[in-house]
Amino acid sequence: MAEIAKENGVVQNGSENIQGKSVENGIQEVKQKSSEVAQGKDMDNGVKEVEEKPSRTGKKRKNQFGDYDESYMSVDSWRKRWKKGQTRFHMPKVHPMLEKNFEWLTKGEKKQRVFLPLCGKSLDLNWLAEKEQIVIGNECSAEGCEQFFKENELEFTKESLKDTVGDVYKAKDKDITIYCCDYFKLTEDVIGTFDCIWDRGALAAIDPQDRTRYAKVITPLLRKGGRYLLDLFQLDHESFVGPPYDCKPTDVDDMFGKYFNIDRVVTRDALSAWQREWGVKYFIQDVYHFTPKVTEEITKCACSK
Ligand SMILES: C[S@@+](CC[C@H](N)C(=O)[O-])C[C@H]1O[C@@H](n2cnc3c(N)ncnc32)[C@H](O)[C@@H]1O
Repeated sequence: MAEIAKENGVVQNGSENIQGKSVENGIQEVKQKSSEVAQGKDMDNGVKEVEEKPSRTGKKRKNQFGDYDESYMSVDSWRKRWKKGQTRFHMPKVHPMLEKNFEWLTKGEKKQRVFLPLCGKSLDLNWLAEKEQIVIGNECSAEGCEQFFKENELEFTKESLKDTVGDVYKAKDKDITIYCCDYFKLTEDVIGTFDCIWDRGALAAIDPQDRTRYAKVITPLLRKGGRYLLDLFQLDHESFVGPPYDCKPTDVDDMFGKYFNIDRVVTRDALSAWQREWGVKYFIQDVYHFTPKVTEEITKCACSK
């Protein structure tokens, strides 16, 4: 990874600028669509009413939605955020790290089955389909799924899932399918297996208490010879509860080291205005490449324990 400069383990801010554009936290400082701007303004101007929920940790910290909320982020709480239009995590452009690592991820091949867990309405879904990949996302919010198809002007069908509670959305004229259900209900029988995984805002958004469960679901979904691209952050939680949650390289090793060869290919200071609003003191983006260590069969056995 010669093009990725590391200095004291951290690539200096600005050296990860991609295609000559200034990128902070992978989020380019560009004007967002009206709904996000309105929502951002509400949050920035303090017009939004700040909620306060009973604390499960005894601490009082804000989350990324601007509320004092230490409670567990269940699928229902995510669905409520979508209904309120609180989707500032959505990027108004294709993720620079996907663009940069696309050749590695797909080995330059077309028609790869690419999985995007907890995909929201990411523009990456459409971009990958334009690149002739077979794109499969998972998102618990029906609102998020429908916004994706409508905002990208894609006609779609919607059917009930057979093997678990939820629906499957399919674009009519593109190879994009979104399984609208709880990620933790996914198995190979429900969703199949994949050549590639692009994990942005997925593991990073999972409550740390669910990380082992998260790894057990995703590990057997990657085929032998497949590739997994993972975007995570290291941050302090003194005044910010998350998501996203701090995830250190040692946590990644603990979760996945047994099953994957792990290569941290980017580490950069990604502290931007939004994180400063959260009150975090440091915010480091790490991008990882994973390749399976063991055969598909062994991976499955190890993970089903
Ligand atoms: C931080 S957002 C990131 C969305 C997307 N990956 C992106 O980059 O814009 C996390 C997403 O995961 C979804 N989500 C959270 N928990 C989930 C679960 N258990 N199953 C499926 N989706 C989930 C949320 O609704 C939300 O859209």
